[in-house]
Amino acid sequence: MNILQDIWKSIVRRDPLSTDKGKSELVFMNVWLHIHPAKVKKENLKFKHTFYLGFITFFLFIILITTGVALMAYYRPFPPQSYQDMKDLQFVVFMGPFLRNMHRWAAHGMVICVFLHMCRVFFTGSYKKPRQFNWVIGVVLLLLTLGMSFTGYLLPWDQLAYWAITVGTNIGSYAPFVGGYLRELLLGGHSVGEAALLRFYVLHVALLPSVLIIFTIVHFWRVRKDGGLSRPLWKLKKKEEKLVTIGAPAQLAELKTVPASTEKTYGLMEVVTGKPIFETIAPEEADEEVFSYPYAFVREAVTLMATVTTIMAVSLFYNAPLEELANPAKTPNPAKAPWYFLGLQELVSHSALLGGVIIPGLMVLGLLIIPYIDRNPSRHLKDRKWALWIFTAFVVINLVLIVIGTFFRGPGWAMVPPWVHVTGGVE
Ligand code: HEM
Repeated sequence: MNILQDIWKSIVRRDPLSTDKGKSELVFMNVWLHIHPAKVKKENLKFKHTFYLGFITFFLFIILITTGVALMAYYRPFPPQSYQDMKDLQFVVFMGPFLRNMHRWAAHGMVICVFLHMCRVFFTGSYKKPRQFNWVIGVVLLLLTLGMSFTGYLLPWDQLAYWAITVGTNIGSYAPFVGGYLRELLLGGHSVGEAALLRFYVLHVALLPSVLIIFTIVHFWRVRKDGGLSRPLWKLKKKEEKLVTIGAPAQLAELKTVPASTEKTYGLMEVVTGKPIFETIAPEEADEEVFSYPYAFVREAVTLMATVTTIMAVSLFYNAPLEELANPAKTPNPAKAPWYFLGLQELVSHSALLGGVIIPGLMVLGLLIIPYIDRNPSRHLKDRKWALWIFTAFVVINLVLIVIGTFFRGPGWAMVPPWVHVTGGVE
């Protein structure tokens, strides 16, 4: 027994978890857990503050890496074998369809969740000082996520994949001067073929995931260094009311403008304590912190389990589509880009330059500079009417265009009623 205890102690090297020191050491001394502080604000753990969307996005990415590596064991990136490998996964490989489904649905889920996470960060004003640059890193993560999904789309080498990528890369080629070259660089030729499949494969399994991992690490590190998560809006409101009651106008003015993170002062392993900024509300502030272990970890573990379970459940009941072998001579009518680019395809159908270049360019630029052009220091919803209106319009217009492109466009890109896609045109 003693030997076992000795072995255990030689591995973990910390005090028992029943002590506060042990809990702190668990976080500090573990290479995976040290991205957390020893203690976190209790209010920040509430579901309604973040909806755990950043974590869900991250966990979906983990699912994608695990299932992706397994899929690589069965996949050859050259046509027509790629398609044959998909068929094998469907009919020969043990649990092949389940594996493929999990990868496919987690990928769609990640695109949706990263977008929702961005909306959460925007609406809670969490991109404001001192988190401006983490927002910028986030926008890069959003683009990388779209890139991952887009490059993966081609790999099954079926009709859906072939034509979605043909349309998708055509949209990009409308960029003046460089568009054509970029498309050629991406495809390794003038059209989607063998070279394109290999390039997309390399991007999908090596380059983009590596860059995404690096940016994710930087993103997490910044959350830490920016003083943890921004305080929930309801917490700011409560504090404001308290300062009004005790009559502290100077502090009240400061609260409105001071970034939430400066409330955080740093202690060394909870041995040296931090100094609260607002002396008047110090005791309440001190009470609010809880140990990351177990409070944050349990919530994150539950989120992980819920994410994996949901993807597994969806994968049991819904199969990832696989159409017939890609055929460059047989263009489907209409040929549609992947769903998240259908808004752009809709715009391109009206004006190639506007939809293919100007609007997407402005959208990305607009997202990147939001924290720097929005000079309003307040995070309260009522103080940010303009910003909220503009961002909500951006989200709604995007969604409406995607819905139109997905459900209301038929052969020849003509308007059709949405049930045509269900009934196959039979009224
Ligand atoms: C692969 C994509 C991404 C992953 C894995 C990710 C992950 C996370 C996680 C785990 C957090 C902390 C808690 C939470 O909000 O759930 C967070 C916070 C944050 N994220 Fe992301 N994120 C991603 C993309 C984005 C995007 C697209 C943006 C914005 C354009 C963004 C901006 C931020 C900001 C500013 C914070 C700090 C929020 C605060 O203090 O309340 N992230 N992210």
